[in-house]
Amino acid sequence: MKRVWMLFLIAGCSTVDPKPETPTEYTFKAPEGFPATAYRFENTPITQAGFELGRSLFYDGKLSRDGSISCADCHQQEAAFSHFDHDVSHGIDDRLGTRNAPALFNLAWHSDFFWDGGVHDLDLQPPSAIMNANEMDESLDRILEKLRKDSKYPAMFRAAYGTEEVTTARFLKSLSQFMLLMISSNSKYDRYIRKEAGVTFTADEQEGLRVFNLKCATCHPAPLFTDLSFRNNGLKPTPNPDLGRALITLRDEDRLRFKVPSLRNITESPPYMHDGRFSSLERVLEHYNSGVQATENLDPLLSQNGRRGIVLSDAEKRALIAFMKTLKDDTFLSDKRFSHP
Ligand code: HEC
Ligand code: HEC
Repeated sequence: MKRVWMLFLIAGCSTVDPKPETPTEYTFKAPEGFPATAYRFENTPITQAGFELGRSLFYDGKLSRDGSISCADCHQQEAAFSHFDHDVSHGIDDRLGTRNAPALFNLAWHSDFFWDGGVHDLDLQPPSAIMNANEMDESLDRILEKLRKDSKYPAMFRAAYGTEEVTTARFLKSLSQFMLLMISSNSKYDRYIRKEAGVTFTADEQEGLRVFNLKCATCHPAPLFTDLSFRNNGLKPTPNPDLGRALITLRDEDRLRFKVPSLRNITESPPYMHDGRFSSLERVLEHYNSGVQATENLDPLLSQNGRRGIVLSDAEKRALIAFMKTLKDDTFLSDKRFSHP
């Protein structure tokens, strides 16, 4: 497979005074070794003003009907932009959704969004949350009206796009600019792979990496730690199961398949799986070891040599957890650019 290693340097950012530790603060720069991006940057050049507008919107309750829920309520930075400790999403009027809010980072590499891949363009993702009655329950028109009357937004739109005009496209592209720069590539694992001075793996981490490459990496491959495909990893179906990918494609072979999630920052974003059914990584590993169900479309990788699941000894489980902890990226989790403005 041909890998295109891309470096995006978007014009128009040269006015930003670069700080030494983050020289490319408001440009999109693919980390070394990452594959080609899926997002079409030619349509949305990133600028600091566009990014800051997106950041302001991401943290603003005005995007919901009664002002109570912002994107950041369900996508919290300290939880790698997932909803910490919430199994299914929790939105307006305390209404519950049916799926776990996924962590958000490295989105430029995704071509399909949501657990079922129902949205194909990052720019078109926010309306789903905004219009969802259990999430923000608001219309785009009403949001644009609120922004036009707001004391700060017209000037921010002018700074980002040259005029004060508040349009749907500008609104959506600003949110994308903010989310596209959320890149996670500076975990201990990354620094170890880059052979940075002083970064070493313990014996457990080393062993965890070995077991991971052997038993998990086909579906969760580095550097994204997801192959971005849709698969059934054998979760026990609930009485009225979420059919996942099949809800979009209407194909039987996609029933119970879900987008493989990234394992970066995984220690920070419990609970796990599309419905948040597992509260800890220990439970996830026990699922792979002993809980994999013979459901329709079970991924063939999880049913090999007449045995369902992935055999994991206690030592392997401990090593895998030590390894997964090295995927925590403190630079990303505490990056001030992404915090509440
Ligand atoms: C009430 C909680 C809630 C709010 C508010 C919310 N989201 Fe989400 N978000 C979710 C859930 C749940 C999913 C997964 C939905 C699914 O798979 O059906 C999701 C999915 C996403 C995804 C796709 C991630 C992926 O890997 O596929 C993006 C991007 C995203 N949200 C951004 C936003 C933005 C931007 C806003 C504000 C406009 C927002 N969200 C508001 C809960 C929320
Ligand atoms: C056949 C492909 C496949 C293999 C092999 C696999 N996984 Fe997964 N993994 C998935 C899918 C698909 C999901 C999401 C399933 C869902 O939510 O319905 C997932 C979810 C997870 C999650 C939860 C992530 C989250 O954000 O909720 C963790 C943790 C995880 N896997 C770790 C592992 C580990 C560790 C291994 C090796 C022991 C492994 N996986 C092997 C496909 C796979």
